Amino acid sequence: MAPSTALFVAFLIFFSFQGQLPQVQALANRSDHDFSYMKSVKNATDMPSEEEYDYIVIGGGTAGCPLDATLSEEHSVLVLERGGAPETQPNVLSVAGFFANLMQEDDGKTPAQRFTSEDGVANVRGRVLGGSSMINAGFYSRADNEFLSKSGVDWDMDAVEKAYQWVEETIVFHPSSLAVWQSAFKEALVEAGVVPDNGFRLDHVVGTKVSGSIFDGVGKRHGAVELLNRGNLKNLRVALHAVVEKIIFSTVSSSKPSAVGVIYSDANGKFHRALVRDKGEIILSAGAIGSPQLLLLSGVGSESYLSSLNIPVIHSQPNVGEFMADNPRNNINLVIPFPFASSPAQVVGITSDYFIETVSYSLSFFPIPLPFSLFPTPASTEVSIATIAEKTTGLLSHGSLRLSSPNEAKATPLVRFNYFSDPVDLSRCVKGVRKMGDMMNTNSMDRFKYTGFNGERGFMFLGPALPSNWSDDLSVEDYCQSTVTTFWHYHGGCLVGKVVDGDFRVMGINSLRVVDGSTFTISPGTNPQATLMMLGR
Ligand SMILES: Cc1cc2nc3c(=O)[nH]c(=O)nc-3n(C[C@H](O)[C@H](O)[C@H](O)COP(=O)(O)OP(=O)(O)OC[C@H]3O[C@@H](n4cnc5c(N)ncnc54)[C@H](O)[C@@H]3O)c2cc1C
Ligand SMILES: *[C@@H]1O[C@H](CO)[C@@H](O)[C@H](O)[C@H]1NC(C)=O
Ligand SMILES: *[C@@H]1O[C@H](CO)[C@@H](O)[C@H](O)[C@H]1NC(C)=O
Ligand SMILES: *[C@@H]1O[C@H](CO)[C@@H](O)[C@H](O)[C@H]1NC(C)=O
Repeated sequence: MAPSTALFVAFLIFFSFQGQLPQVQALANRSDHDFSYMKSVKNATDMPSEEEYDYIVIGGGTAGCPLDATLSEEHSVLVLERGGAPETQPNVLSVAGFFANLMQEDDGKTPAQRFTSEDGVANVRGRVLGGSSMINAGFYSRADNEFLSKSGVDWDMDAVEKAYQWVEETIVFHPSSLAVWQSAFKEALVEAGVVPDNGFRLDHVVGTKVSGSIFDGVGKRHGAVELLNRGNLKNLRVALHAVVEKIIFSTVSSSKPSAVGVIYSDANGKFHRALVRDKGEIILSAGAIGSPQLLLLSGVGSESYLSSLNIPVIHSQPNVGEFMADNPRNNINLVIPFPFASSPAQVVGITSDYFIETVSYSLSFFPIPLPFSLFPTPASTEVSIATIAEKTTGLLSHGSLRLSSPNEAKATPLVRFNYFSDPVDLSRCVKGVRKMGDMMNTNSMDRFKYTGFNGERGFMFLGPALPSNWSDDLSVEDYCQSTVTTFWHYHGGCLVGKVVDGDFRVMGINSLRVVDGSTFTISPGTNPQATLMMLGR
């Protein structure tokens, strides 16, 4: 390392730690994976063909696992998860496996199930115990107060605080040191006016901050699955490779239909039934795609739509599968002129219109040609890349979800998000892209430029560069629309106030709730997992 670079790095590290004021809060210390929950796990093929429990939870995901642990304190709980155990999927257990997971070919069993929305944007959802928290980027940040106050839920704020803490003391870590790139990015945000510098904190505040991670100091992932360990494992039965096909209803004893059980299939294609005891409940925690899908498959949805598929209508509810939303991600990828360490997201810039986060990684080849005529070819084929991503917040655009076939619980339904169909979303993206442009002009970013043969300096982009004329709204809008991809924070389909009430009960049906991202009108905070786990607890 050249002396000037060393000085620069030292300067950055000094600077970035200066602003950190750790809150008084207990975060997790442990750094070994805790697989105790495996005592409760069975292969669905080894499950009896019929059984009774107090509660049945469909989906052992991000909201599901804390919910399961909580219910198991006093009740018998059956968790039905279509995916396998994280233990058998090494890529989900470490930060190093993040890209490998997303790139892995989907064989119907891999932890990242791929789908492409009707908008043409490639996307992915978790299919493993622990759900999407086992394939995500690990960044942990609590909800904004506006989310809580406008969610249609009468939150007990003391319980909310305790639930977040319960999650945090179990699986959330304070980044032990900021990666070089994350430090530079943080400085660039502050220099570009995303202020104040709020240091390290888990709550949602305007400005730039470092937040928590479910990756520990050595890069091990501690997803929602480890929250199962906090339950009473004797009361908990987790069936894996168990695909729930439909919910069973009884219409005899009440004017409303009651959810009484579920039908699920195992890896051999055999069907099993699980029933709930009196006063028990079925809770859908199958995620923003899975929960509306299962309601539709079970006959809860638009009457005319279900009838057109010959699905018997249990309860007419036109809002099931409506209001599907996905926060647009627009990013730039910088090729960095010197090797540096990969880093998961540790820093976020928060404004009311957009959030900006970053990750760095290395690529061992160029999938697309680079502008070699302008810049010297990097010496090695192993190059460092930094991706700066903007998330448009407070979405007004939304779409809907339809079944791909009436009998297929394993497939991903057809989903459309209608990115930027509302002009307000587009104007927020434009502001965020301009801010990324401001960041590129900061002193903190200068050292990441290449010097060309004639001494000219500039960034090398992998993929699209930022628009060249900042002041031209049309070209920035066009950039937003043409480079849109997903932040993977899709939500909706069973909204509070539309499909479920403020206690997450499906309106018009007894003994059935939905507890996951499908109930959200707006994605909470900068990143949703903290609030999904809080909700489950
Ligand atoms: C690549 C990626 C990166 C992300 N990065 C971050 C991040 O850094 N920070 C952050 O906060 N958020 C991040 N997110 C978003 C966050 O992880 C998700 O919003 C969250 O995990 C969703 O939680 P959920 O409980 O709603 O659903 P999930 O966690 O997806 O749980 C649903 C579960 O239900 C199961 N299931 C579905 N259908 C059935 C069925 N029919 N039968 C049985 N089981 C079923 C699924 O297998 C799954 O385990 C990311 C997401 C992805 C995909
Ligand atoms: C973590 O370590 C600190 C200091 O040793 C301790 O006070 C705290 O209780 C520990 N937290 C957990 C969850 O073990
Ligand atoms: C579950 O059982 C089925 C059928 O016996 C088998 O094919 C599958 O490999 C098992 N899965 C695991 C993870 O043990
Ligand atoms: C940039 O866009 C603005 C607004 O459309 C326009 O007035 C200006 O001439 C453009 N500048 C350049 C250099 O093209």
